[in-house]
Amino acid sequence: MAGISRFRIGGLIAAGFVAVAVLFYQATPLEAREAEKPGDSVRGVTLWADNCARCHAMRDPKEFRDDQWRVIVSHMRVRAGLGGQDARDILAFLQASN
Ligand code: HEC
Repeated sequence: MAGISRFRIGGLIAAGFVAVAVLFYQATPLEAREAEKPGDSVRGVTLWADNCARCHAMRDPKEFRDDQWRVIVSHMRVRAGLGGQDARDILAFLQASN
């Protein structure tokens, strides 16, 4: 009997840890869960050349300010079907070149 109740208490404690872990995981924003690295403008220039002139003429990085590029890339990322890291790399390139 003593063995069973110790097992039950252990199970309850384990379930408690799992519940707390799940709560913490859900409280973490999605962006923070992706292993996020800062944008790499060297990768960004190639990604920009490969992806950003498919639908329209290439837009000069100097046409927009940093904050405008942030908004534009978040829209164009969806149109271009780019992953988060690729979009960050392109944004880093555009913001370094304007
Ligand atoms: C799948 C097609 C497609 C791809 C790929 C694409 N764009 Fe666009 N882009 C559009 C369309 C359509 C518009 C105009 C309407 C809109 O804003 O959705 C546009 C508009 C723009 C504008 C004008 C915004 C303004 O307010 O004047 C800029 C700048 C731009 N795109 C930059 C980019 C960059 C940078 C990339 C690469 C990350 C990119 N685009 C990739 C379709 C695309």
